[in-house]
Amino acid sequence: MLLPALLAVLLGVAHTGLATLAPPFPSINLTSDTPISPCDLPALLPVPSHPNLAASELIRTTLGRYPLSIDGKNFEALALVFAADAVANYSAPLNVLTPLATIQAVLASSLEKVTTQHSLGTQVIEVLSESEAFSVTYYTATHFGMGFTRVR
Ligand SMILES: *[C@@H]1O[C@H](CO)[C@@H](O)[C@H](O)[C@H]1NC(C)=O
Ligand SMILES: *[C@@H]1O[C@H](CO)[C@@H](O)[C@H](O)[C@H]1NC(C)=O
Repeated sequence: MLLPALLAVLLGVAHTGLATLAPPFPSINLTSDTPISPCDLPALLPVPSHPNLAASELIRTTLGRYPLSIDGKNFEALALVFAADAVANYSAPLNVLTPLATIQAVLASSLEKVTTQHSLGTQVIEVLSESEAFSVTYYTATHFGMGFTRVR
């Protein structure tokens, strides 16, 4: 009976942890211009009270199409990921790319000679309403480029 007891303790800890945050949970403000701090993310994403699993799965599939498109060098397929007027911030050196056609063209040319593997990791998806959702996904990009020194 050690396992149930251990589970009960863990559940108790988890429940207590949530209880200290409530009420109310900090809210996600999608219209704010202030960037969300990584430090605030755990408390911003409580267990959803009204999970919308169908919507969450559609979002997860859309996110999954991104590494498949990039690694498969099918940049046309990015149209299944981004809206036509999407704004993507890749930071330096690519910086902010918009609209979709620019995202496709810049990624196609900058990755032309690079073999890539993009892996999605830790992920949370929060459906906020009929028309709004928030998600965070950890992401590791591995690029195998040209011009390196061969070691024998
Ligand atoms: C969300 O952010 C906008 C823009 O900063 C602000 O006007 C609004 O009051 C915020 N909403 C909440 C619920 O904090
Ligand atoms: C893009 O991301 C960089 C790095 O996080 C940030 O410094 C910059 O302000 C962002 N640009 C826009 C337009 O959001």
